[in-house]
Amino acid sequence: MAKAASVKNYSSGITLITDTGWGDAGKGKITDEIASSFSSGDIVVRYNGGPNAGHTVKNKKGEFKLHGVSSGIFNPDVVCITTGNVVINPTALVEELAMLKKVGVKVIKKNFLLSEDSHMIMPWHKMRDSLSEKSRGGEKIGTTGQGIGPTYADRTARVGLRLKDLLRPDFKALFKKELAFQERLIRLMDGEALVSEGGKALQDKPYLDEKAIFKDLENAREVLSPFITNTIAVLWEAQEKKKTILAEGAQGALLDLDLGGYPFVTSSHPGLAGFTLSSGIHAVDRVVGVAKAYTTRVGSGPMPTELFDENGKHMQDVGHEFGATTGRPRRCGWFDVPAMVYGARIAGVTEIALTKLDVLDGLKSLKICKGYKVGTKETSKLVGFDSDMITNAKAVYEEVPGWEEKTSGIRDFAKLPKNAQNYVNRLQELMGLPITIVSISPDRDATIYR
Ligand code: IMP
Repeated sequence: MAKAASVKNYSSGITLITDTGWGDAGKGKITDEIASSFSSGDIVVRYNGGPNAGHTVKNKKGEFKLHGVSSGIFNPDVVCITTGNVVINPTALVEELAMLKKVGVKVIKKNFLLSEDSHMIMPWHKMRDSLSEKSRGGEKIGTTGQGIGPTYADRTARVGLRLKDLLRPDFKALFKKELAFQERLIRLMDGEALVSEGGKALQDKPYLDEKAIFKDLENAREVLSPFITNTIAVLWEAQEKKKTILAEGAQGALLDLDLGGYPFVTSSHPGLAGFTLSSGIHAVDRVVGVAKAYTTRVGSGPMPTELFDENGKHMQDVGHEFGATTGRPRRCGWFDVPAMVYGARIAGVTEIALTKLDVLDGLKSLKICKGYKVGTKETSKLVGFDSDMITNAKAVYEEVPGWEEKTSGIRDFAKLPKNAQNYVNRLQELMGLPITIVSISPDRDATIYR
């Protein structure tokens, strides 16, 4: 069992921050806080997903929603890296870097590096994302619309443009070839979608504005080129020099392409596997699974503890449960132990950071889902997250008393209301994993280490 009583306990070795559920539990806050104690040359690395992520960080510089840059960027001593299986929207990243520079955050070659292997999300990927959702009718995945699936699909098909292509002298020719291919593809897809709605299949003018897209890309090439490198070499050197490495996952374990609730998943691996695949580092010291004190989900797919009553409304209002990338309202429900334990297992989690406990302040009583009833069978241990099975699962609850007092100012676990302590301890017992961090507001220091 990992022992930790202060943020300093994470200032050595390799720690991974992931999310045991459907994302949005507060990885950004925990990463920013842990990285704030790092020394010169220590690393924070983003290893999966892309701008579908929206990591919220609130610190002295303000409140930020980071989509492409890792949450370690606020400590100027830290080197922020993204690995090759992170997909990059070059124009959106340029805007994010400009936003950070504007508030005085240092982003230079010394503290920000992008893997040359990353695939670029291009405007055609966003179009394909939306056309693909449209053609699914009622069976939407509810993607973030950021072009994630199509970019990863191209990567798997071994087509598409990578950051390293920006550095090639024949980049314009490569771009033109790719654009022509994507134009044909989109025409086919749109033809299909419109015909299925009884409409006209094709339009005369090109779907893709070559001039405008290339202009944006040339600008991105100028801004991003200095940061593009072989990040494996940097990571391995840091590992050999025993630098502290913090890996910041995106999304959540239950959205894992392989072991999550397929098809309502993302196209990458949010847990430990995503990091090892893209870093070539196969031994980490601890894996912190961030879990909210209640459960949320954004997008389609089953969610057994979803609430449609005043308790769900309380979670949504008090917890500001709206997607950081899309602004969509997040679905809210009671803490789902079987789902979080399954998520923790597939993500390699060794300890839990429980966040947003303060959102539950004022609720008279709380429910904890400790098992699922499927047909006549009851189970507390999931050995898969089959969407059909989960759709038919009824949550089995135990009820525990809530607390009236405000918790957000408290920094000592023993000073939390007794019922809040009992709630955390009961979750720990049911999950069978130590809860080593409890977060009680978005601010950087509003955290209890146990
Ligand atoms: P995509 O990653 O945009 O393709 O979306 C696939 C599914 O993952 C949808 O249900 C999204 O709502 C969900 N998703 C993707 N990224 C995030 C995230 O950062 N937080 C929460 N849900 C996400």
